[in-house]
Amino acid sequence: MKINFIDLKAQYQAYKEEIDKEVLEVMASAQFIGGEKLNRLEHDLAAYTGAKHAIGCSSGTDALLLSLMALDIGLGDEVITTPFTFIATAEVIALLGAKSVFVDIDEATYNIDPALIESAITDKTKAILPVSLYGQCADMDAINAIAAKHNLPVIEDGCQSFGASYKGKKSCSLSTIGCTSFFPSKPLGAYGDGGAVFTSDDALVEKIKMLLNHGQNERYKHKFIGINGRLDAMQAAVLNVKLTYFDAEVAKREEIGERYTMLLKGSSVITPAVTEDNHSVYAQYSIRTADRKTLSAHLQSKGIPVAVHYPMPLHLQEAFAYLGYQKGGFPLSEKISEEIMSLPMSPYLTQEQQDYIISAIKEVS
Ligand SMILES: Cc1ncc(COP(=O)(O)O)c(C=O)c1O
Repeated sequence: MKINFIDLKAQYQAYKEEIDKEVLEVMASAQFIGGEKLNRLEHDLAAYTGAKHAIGCSSGTDALLLSLMALDIGLGDEVITTPFTFIATAEVIALLGAKSVFVDIDEATYNIDPALIESAITDKTKAILPVSLYGQCADMDAINAIAAKHNLPVIEDGCQSFGASYKGKKSCSLSTIGCTSFFPSKPLGAYGDGGAVFTSDDALVEKIKMLLNHGQNERYKHKFIGINGRLDAMQAAVLNVKLTYFDAEVAKREEIGERYTMLLKGSSVITPAVTEDNHSVYAQYSIRTADRKTLSAHLQSKGIPVAVHYPMPLHLQEAFAYLGYQKGGFPLSEKISEEIMSLPMSPYLTQEQQDYIISAIKEVS
């Protein structure tokens, strides 16, 4: 049986006519940067999340970078975040000369443990940057409460959680700034790189719009040092089509995720723990197993693709050696990085494919 880790080809076939039409319109109009398609997308993204503003940008990484720049985070500042994430979360902090202060995760959700945040705050702390990993929001109320007490902004790295909800509100609308990624394999994926920044703060939105266009406030007048961080019209055109079908895809993802969890009961793998405050968008369906090597080899031998998100926490990465953290520093991040493994997941995964994956797992676990 042929199984894709994420079935982007099936998704294209489903929306082909509309996507082709929208993309061809961009080519015919020659409006490649900005314009009506981007305006529509930004309007609809804001409406979707409930944040007052959405700003399209070049990637999830740049969304995070722009957020930190908008908050004037730079040399010597500290940002509290999790070591159990994709490198981009902490990379942007380092690029600005600031320092990532890592805090370990919750063993059930794999998101930053709010109970550990307060003792990591110093007079250099300038922001808290939780990640909503695998599509489940971090415990944003608890994090926002700590941040409010210390007068700190919160940036949600929602690069894996666009479409998820927490206590009835959508990811990316839950804090000072929310960031997401439209990398093709994300729940809402473009046909290239893309991302968005969300905020309800009018002053921040103006600044972010300037920063992503070389800090320009009028043509060739530069108020800030910025970047080329724009989202192009072709990506906006694809995203506009996909966004109209997104609610149905999110519902399907949740149904498939919950079906995995239900049918894996009785095996020895640990399935994702989605708290009652959350609806996960299952950007990844990640299980834990004490013997990842055996399970992974077995699944691959049966034509089932698997992936590991992420095999090494950031505090042990060579690039972050200068931060001075040691092995043993964040025991849960280290333990889970050794046990975690993601299964094929997309709204196009059939029950037949899913049953095949589940019985293959049960053969060895
Ligand atoms: C948690 C997290 N943060 C940041 C990023 C960066 O997003 P992008 O690849 O769009 O730059 C990703 C996506 O890969 C991610 O998963």
